[in-house]
Amino acid sequence: MIERNSPLGAARVDPRVALVTCAELPDLEPDDRLVIEPLAARGVRAEPVVWDDPAVDWAAYDLVVVRSPWDYVGRREQFVAWAARVPRLANPAEVIAWNTEKTYLERLAADGVPVVPTGWVRPGETWVPAGDGEYVVKPAVSAGSRDTGRYDLADPTHRELAAAHVARLQAAGRLTMVQPYLAAVDTDGETGLLFFGGAFSHAIRKGPMLEGPDVPASGDRPPGLFRPERIEARQPSPAEMEVAEKVLAAIPGGAERLLYARVDLIPGPDGSPMLIELELTEPSLFLDRAPGAPERLADAIAQRL
Ligand SMILES: Nc1ncnc2c1ncn2[C@@H]1O[C@H](COP(=O)(O)OP(=O)(O)O)[C@@H](O)[C@H]1O
Ligand SMILES: [Mg+2]
Repeated sequence: MIERNSPLGAARVDPRVALVTCAELPDLEPDDRLVIEPLAARGVRAEPVVWDDPAVDWAAYDLVVVRSPWDYVGRREQFVAWAARVPRLANPAEVIAWNTEKTYLERLAADGVPVVPTGWVRPGETWVPAGDGEYVVKPAVSAGSRDTGRYDLADPTHRELAAAHVARLQAAGRLTMVQPYLAAVDTDGETGLLFFGGAFSHAIRKGPMLEGPDVPASGDRPPGLFRPERIEARQPSPAEMEVAEKVLAAIPGGAERLLYARVDLIPGPDGSPMLIELELTEPSLFLDRAPGAPERLADAIAQRL
């Protein structure tokens, strides 16, 4: 802790904030580093900390902010148990437990949120590729578009590849999702709306991520934590804003207690926005895409101290 002299002369201690990352990114992503200086300007010392480093004393931090612990996929239980042990975590541990498996989409759909129609395949269940048109196969616990593929079920080769993909995820004990491919992502892209402390900050457009069938990591896909993304600034439409607000209102425990939230939408077949993902755990925040975004996040963090 840093001791500083306040205007009244008495020494006071600057609050300390941990920005949680993984061993592969020990200094955070450059984008997440953008909040460090605005925090310093608010008298807050922030530093990157690796979530599964056993030497860390989490109780020493006034706030622990989850940013890029992206290697938890494949050991979600360990990550959720870690979250439950951290005294002052943002977002809160129960939010992380709820949000790290995409079954939360079911709960939101039940509350009237327009969600991409999703079929769920458990390990041991039989899945027969049916219907024509394009479908997406992906795991319920994932990040960075990994293990995610796109298949045209009218094509016999794709049907086989899709079945093999589902079987591969099932064999690894993973709950698997099958969704119609929302083709508007190819033209309109995906809209991510960022909220800090429950208030809208900015939005981005993400280009389509899926070119075709999934290639296992040993194949020709570049190794790494995520696939490259094409991101631009975007003004959300009133319809997108409305759906995002509906999503936030449906989050158990309310949205005000959330330090950050990202709502990802793609236009459905009739053009109206559908929820593809709600990111309350480790979303990229794209702070560099909107003037003032790092400062707005710093304000939201400072408010929680
Ligand atoms: N049903 C879908 N229709 C169109 N594109 C999809 C669909 N599901 C996933 N994608 C594409 O795959 C990417 C990753 O899927 P997503 O559900 O966001 O999982 P995650 O980001 O957690 O890996 C999306 O950004 C989108 O480009
Ligand atoms: Mg996503």
